[in-house]
Amino acid sequence: MSRQRGCLTTLVITVSAVFVLLVGLVVAGGALVWSHASTDTTGEVSFTHALGIPPLAQSHRDAQGRRVFDLTAREGSTDLGGERPTATWGYNGGYLGPTLRAERGEEVLVHVHNELPETTTLHWHGMHLPARMDGGPHQPIEPGTGWSPTWRIDQPAGTLWYHPHPHGQTEEQVTRGLAGMFILDDRRSEELPLPDEYGVDDVPVIVQDKSIDADGELDVDELGDTVVVNGTVAPHLDVTTERVRLRLLNASNKRVYDFGLDDDSPFTLIGTDGGLLPRSKELSRIQLAPGERADVVVTMEPGERRVLRSYPPDLGVNPISGRFAGGADTLDVLQLRAADRLQPSPAVPDVLAPGNLDEVGSAADSDRTRTFELSGRQINGRKMDMSRIDEVVRVGDTETWEVTNTGGEPHSFHVHDVQFRVLSVDGAPPPPELSGLKDTVYLPDGVTFRLLLHFTDYADPDWAYMYHCHMLRHEDHGMMGQFVVVRPGQEVDGASGAGMPGRHDDHDAMPAMPGHG
Ligand code: C2O
Ligand code: CU
Ligand code: CU
Repeated sequence: MSRQRGCLTTLVITVSAVFVLLVGLVVAGGALVWSHASTDTTGEVSFTHALGIPPLAQSHRDAQGRRVFDLTAREGSTDLGGERPTATWGYNGGYLGPTLRAERGEEVLVHVHNELPETTTLHWHGMHLPARMDGGPHQPIEPGTGWSPTWRIDQPAGTLWYHPHPHGQTEEQVTRGLAGMFILDDRRSEELPLPDEYGVDDVPVIVQDKSIDADGELDVDELGDTVVVNGTVAPHLDVTTERVRLRLLNASNKRVYDFGLDDDSPFTLIGTDGGLLPRSKELSRIQLAPGERADVVVTMEPGERRVLRSYPPDLGVNPISGRFAGGADTLDVLQLRAADRLQPSPAVPDVLAPGNLDEVGSAADSDRTRTFELSGRQINGRKMDMSRIDEVVRVGDTETWEVTNTGGEPHSFHVHDVQFRVLSVDGAPPPPELSGLKDTVYLPDGVTFRLLLHFTDYADPDWAYMYHCHMLRHEDHGMMGQFVVVRPGQEVDGASGAGMPGRHDDHDAMPAMPGHG
């Protein structure tokens, strides 16, 4: 072998060795990132803390017969399992807020005070109410000031919630702890033999994932490894009745949960976002994206312990985006501890609230169809613009909204003002968990959802409602649009801009309607 040849061989061997080493490093690094992208807390949660139950908000009746509540947003601190207490925000307390409760037909008035160091808003998620009472980005509450929305409850019994909605700041404020439940009752819900003793057999279960550093400080991460329920870390619930109703609310920023019991036994789904289902349904899993709710009844045996767990959700996106969005995670959420003796509970009826869907109507009532494509951080190719109205809806109309995630990442779709029904999912009838009243749906990639929405009242060309992705960072980054509800005569004016005067705040006059509407 010539000397030159020998050198060449050495070079080739060296280069190949370095190449193999680099590839090895990349593969190992990738594997590490890949494995770190999934979490499994099965069997690792101690369940040592009794589940905190948000108190029912105090209220009184004013001279006009309105039910009056007071909510003060302020700074506080909470034990979230870190080395020291975590600085948090809450309403009337250090974390989350009290549960508001009202009945259909009642007028409510809520005095909201802002004692935070920054501007906030308070949005009533799932509530049918005038746009200027909605608490979206156009109703800012400056520090040291208040806001007092009032409206009549005019929708079926359901499990709604409230949270801040300042444009660009929602994720941060919700992460710090601002959120609460709003339970509505009606004649039907009161006559049904369902568990309804608040905090005893009718229990709010507000699920959030947190990421807390060694000092106990909250990181505004999109996904956290610590699950808190009602702000309690490692919680258990002492169950004293044969059946317990869990009002599940996913109040997380981005995480999708696929709830089930650790023994895979079924539970009974009785309600979705906006109310009771027409008929109850036995299921063993219920998947909830941020903003969604499910009302479920679990039947317990004396003395047993079961764990409410989140199994890897089916995100319906490519495996890499899915895994980095928590698609491979299993999380223990809440332990149910049944007493040795349980108070009897009546069986859950088959028929619950068959009239609920009639409030929306049927596909045959649809006056028009609009399409929405979600991709990147845009809806229909546009980001949120506070001064642009994207859609103009005529009051009294029923509309079909065709919504598709075309971006490949996990997204969801939430609409203010209405409870809608899902007509079809890629042409097929909706599964049980999408068969009742909804205000938020998870959107797997490339699947078209046909939603039916009925806009009954509150025409007002000056104030907009929002529709958006409820993954809070996406929303903050502009994955949101605005619609107004107008009377037929107002539509033409709106299209020319004449009927759309400036907002109450610093925005310019409403621009002409873009072609899409
Ligand atoms: Cu729960 Cu527009 O929000
Ligand atoms: Cu909302
Ligand atoms: Cu999104």
